[in-house]
Amino acid sequence: MDLEGIKKLNDWVQESDNIVFFGGAGVSTESGIPDFRSVDGLYNQKWAWPPEEILSRSFFERNPEEYYRFHREKLVIEGVEPNRAHRKLAELEAAGKLRAVVTQNIDGLHQAAGSKNVLELHGSILRAYCSRCRKPYPADLINHGTGVPRCGCGGVIRPDIVLYEEPLDQDIMEEAVHCISRAEVLIVGGTSLNVYPAAGLIRYYRGHRLALVNLGATPYDSYADLVIHEKIGEVFSRIAV
Ligand code: OAD
Repeated sequence: MDLEGIKKLNDWVQESDNIVFFGGAGVSTESGIPDFRSVDGLYNQKWAWPPEEILSRSFFERNPEEYYRFHREKLVIEGVEPNRAHRKLAELEAAGKLRAVVTQNIDGLHQAAGSKNVLELHGSILRAYCSRCRKPYPADLINHGTGVPRCGCGGVIRPDIVLYEEPLDQDIMEEAVHCISRAEVLIVGGTSLNVYPAAGLIRYYRGHRLALVNLGATPYDSYADLVIHEKIGEVFSRIAV
């Protein structure tokens, strides 16, 4: 355990009331949701198409049956609970120390833990809408239904997530840039920092307390002021509020 690194991170957290967290799939692995790129992650499991292709806009339009088979089998995971990382981040926000959680995750676990200001860059599996008339639908309909769910207007109901080939929501992106560029401490965790434009958000940080908490190495390790290669739940369990 990198106790020295964790102590430094804890000191930074104690000294700041302007912390921003930016995370990805690795934040939820300790809740039992596989990440995308680790050896046993989603992208290393067998499927007839590469998951990046199934999770693309053109595939969804071409083959919604197959998309929904994948969605229900791989993206919808029952009975998951927030872990120590989600909970500590919510506590830090409630204590007035953390300004925002910027996440690439679509699982809603930050909100389930009590976080309020969550910027979901890739949307949420807990919301759905008609791809034609944009009428909102309960996510249960797509996550637990069968076949391709359709709206009264005839359009296909889709999850409110950002698929490959789709742009990110501009307002959420701008708010994320706003928070990160003004943050005193930026903690980046549980993300391989491989997927753009999300990964590029790190470049907007202007301070000198950028901490990277990730099991594996990332392309930004040499860019950070502190790197901790440990499980994020373990690390956050040692951070005081
Ligand atoms: P990745 O699967 O690419 O990266 C997860 C990272 O978390 C890896 O570097 C792991 O080493 C690390 N990790 C796993 N468990 C951890 C733990 N307990 N503690 C600390 N680190 C841990 O996931 P993302 O970076 O989130 O996009 O992937 C970004 C995007 O790629 C996703 O949002 C998704 C995917 O395609 C879309 O679907 C649009």
